[in-house]
Amino acid sequence: MSTTATLDDARDTKRVFVSSRLGSLLAVAPLGVWTVNHVWDNLAAFQGPEAWQRAVTEHPHPVAHGVTLAVVLLPLVLHTIWGIGRLRSTAPNNTRYGFFANFRYLLQRVSAVGVLFFLGAHMWLAMLKPRLLEGHAEPFADIAHEMHHHGPTLIVYVLGTLGVAYHLANGIGTFAMGWGLAASRKSIRTIERLSIAFFLVLLAMSWAVLYAMWRAGA
Ligand code: HEM
Repeated sequence: MSTTATLDDARDTKRVFVSSRLGSLLAVAPLGVWTVNHVWDNLAAFQGPEAWQRAVTEHPHPVAHGVTLAVVLLPLVLHTIWGIGRLRSTAPNNTRYGFFANFRYLLQRVSAVGVLFFLGAHMWLAMLKPRLLEGHAEPFADIAHEMHHHGPTLIVYVLGTLGVAYHLANGIGTFAMGWGLAASRKSIRTIERLSIAFFLVLLAMSWAVLYAMWRAGA
């Protein structure tokens, strides 16, 4: 093999390594951190319409809103491109890995596709459509009304938030292993337990928000 070909191979390996690390890192911070914060803000639904709108849809300054969007949307786009690349090379292997680990690997990818469709619908219906077509942010009364009176909306949110909670919780586990934060058998078990706990907490928070909206929309 020529020296040029070897150098090209080394550059390719470095490029793949850097993009893989970047796709993985952006998913946890800022994307994962923002996701948890967003669900937390939505819990203001228990305190009524004004509190929810203040916490979720109002921003102190348009520049602050723009910066937040860039800090969240750019990593989301980059992670999605990285994730779609990973999906194309998906190869579940029942013989090489234990059944449960293999099942989680598969679920991570199935949830990725679900999250992709859910986020597309959620961002259009709750963020872009009201602002672009109606000239204002989503009012609490509208989303609460939809949640109570439109079955498909409720089902999409119940399943979509389930997918996000699983994808992020299991992703934090694979992230910790991929970055060498959990290497021994004991630390891997600890990470697995923490990621299950994280899944249950995030899911409980998300479904609590949906319940508060459903109740308010009656
Ligand atoms: C709220 C949005 C999302 C968050 C917070 C998120 C978070 C994560 C995290 C933390 C990981 C683990 C990274 C690692 O193992 O190092 C991950 C993996 C993955 N994500 Fe996402 N993700 C989101 C949306 C998406 C979307 C829209 C796709 C598009 C298809 C996607 C596709 C994937 C795939 C395929 C993996 C597995 C990669 C692998 O293990 O090889 N994710 N995600």
